[in-house]
Amino acid sequence: LSVPQINRLLTHSLYCKQISKPWLEPQTQKPSRKNQLRMPSQSLFNKTVALLFSKRSTRTRLASETSISLLGGRALFLGKDDIQLGVNESLKDSARVIGGMTEGIFARVGDHAEIEELAKHSPVPVLNALSSLWHPTQTLADLLTLHEHAHLFSLPDPNVEPVQDYKNMETSIKSRKREKMLTSLPELRPLTVAYIGDSANVLHDMLVTYPRLGHTMRVASPAKYRAPPEVWKRVEELGCDKGIWWGEDPKEAVKGADVVFTDTWISMGQEAEKAQRLKDFEGYPGGANPNWKFMHCLPRKQDEVDDEVFYGPRSLVFPEADNRKWTTMATFDLFIGRWNSGEPLDLK
Ligand code: CP
Ligand code: NVA
Repeated sequence: LSVPQINRLLTHSLYCKQISKPWLEPQTQKPSRKNQLRMPSQSLFNKTVALLFSKRSTRTRLASETSISLLGGRALFLGKDDIQLGVNESLKDSARVIGGMTEGIFARVGDHAEIEELAKHSPVPVLNALSSLWHPTQTLADLLTLHEHAHLFSLPDPNVEPVQDYKNMETSIKSRKREKMLTSLPELRPLTVAYIGDSANVLHDMLVTYPRLGHTMRVASPAKYRAPPEVWKRVEELGCDKGIWWGEDPKEAVKGADVVFTDTWISMGQEAEKAQRLKDFEGYPGGANPNWKFMHCLPRKQDEVDDEVFYGPRSLVFPEADNRKWTTMATFDLFIGRWNSGEPLDLK
């Protein structure tokens, strides 16, 4: 996604959240005529979205099923044990058949090549619900959460050396203002975002997104878990490398951090590596600036973060999880509901 597309999706997510709220709260009286008119877009009315999930999910599944219903459509959950795919039928044929009977596919796959194959052969839009390399809808929810909590991030401490020269960033906060892309979103100052842990799908999307929005990434991960070459290629193509510090020392990574992120050290499909991974990541949690906030895509395991932080006042993890719904709703509305309607968002 381009920066304008990201900003449009975030603004639209906030709009989806605000407009859906009156419809989700218990009604003690009949909604006024004005409120009856303010209902969520029904762009999925009479449409079906296939949720093609080969891995488990709580948030992504709930976000998609509930938001499709708010948009007036039907979600069709197709787990790996439900259909012929992978046992009696190829991805190519499945893409043609599922895409022939639905208006969009939201797919959670193992290897990233699987989603590329689906997109290549599907006649309808295919969106990524998580792959080995990327988790784009998570990044949208994280960004919406940061914008909504912009007031919590005080101005940078003058005694802390800036970790990045923002003037040289490709997309500065000024140019974002010029583009008038964040009109209804609370403005977020450029943040220093630390990520401590495994270089997996969630981090990869942060690497290709945050620097383009003017934020600096500081990552600590053991050298052997450094992001794979295809991710670095994309990071460089987008000019994001200038906004990324990468090392192995978590204490170094959290220097000047406004937000500290982590993700599981053992992603789905890596269960056999558990013992080695726990050993390699030992000692990874660390501390940061006085005002730092904590974020995690969930599900969380005890190894990555103590309860004290996870359930403490610094933690934004539950608003972050809730925002999966509104960002997914905005994504479905714009990319599936309005696809082929004369106002599509370019998917490339
Ligand atoms: N964060 C996330 O994608 O959670 P699920 O795996 O539960 O969908
Ligand atoms: N990296 C994790 C993210 C889960 C939402 C995984 O792939 O399992």
